[in-house]
Amino acid sequence: MQLRADNVSVVIDGKPVLHSVSVEAKPGRLLVLAGSSGSGKTTLLNVLGLLARVESGHVTVGGQEATKWSDSKRRRFWRNHVAFVFQDYGLIEEASVGYNVTVGRRGLFGIPQSDRERLDHVLGHVLLSGRDKEQTARLSGGEKQRVGLARAMFRAADIVLADEPTASLDRRNRELVISFLKEEARRGATVVVATHDEDLMAAGDDLLRLGDQGDAASLNR
Ligand SMILES: Nc1ncnc2c1ncn2[C@@H]1O[C@H](COP(=O)(O)OP(=O)(O)O)[C@@H](O)[C@H]1O
Ligand SMILES: [Mg+2]
Repeated sequence: MQLRADNVSVVIDGKPVLHSVSVEAKPGRLLVLAGSSGSGKTTLLNVLGLLARVESGHVTVGGQEATKWSDSKRRRFWRNHVAFVFQDYGLIEEASVGYNVTVGRRGLFGIPQSDRERLDHVLGHVLLSGRDKEQTARLSGGEKQRVGLARAMFRAADIVLADEPTASLDRRNRELVISFLKEEARRGATVVVATHDEDLMAAGDDLLRLGDQGDAASLNR
């Protein structure tokens, strides 16, 4: 599912944050939004994920004009199509690892057997095999980020949006995050990541560098 921003401008508290930015995220590709701190990476990621409203310009989702979608339509889009990976992991700390990975897939009686197998599979993929019953709060930062990846992988979403997913991780965990994002793109997902991590930038298929004035220069590889 393709995501597009056309001449998008965003103003926050009277301050122009994005000025007429255009970018396209395509299925099967990893798009990196780069730029220094405060350049508007998170804002643009939120615009593409319909989490932030725009002052002017257009956002298109799978060819549909989405700029003025209602809250319920945006919620349906998030539920059915998007996996978010956050810098602060976005996990329920008191809940178990397994709960966090499968959240949204649980009924009254827990998860179906097929989901149980899928849970084991994704936990193995992020090197957390057999850890599903542990309380999330007890994990290290790198392990928590891997739970966030496992949750995104479990969803097998059309769109994966990640904000600084390698920040404050050690080298091994950063490499795991980067290869996860590349694999998601390879299986056909549209992957967008905001980062100032040079290794992650180098791993991208497409790169948009945001300037300090919110102006953007695009470079397609
Ligand atoms: N909720 C907010 N309230 C006030 N200012 C904000 C808010 N969100 C972002 N900004 C401002 O917008 C600019 C871009 O922020 P952001 O998109 O978070 O940049 P980046 O992710 O590249 O560091 C910054 O100057 C920031 O201070
Ligand atoms: Mg940011």
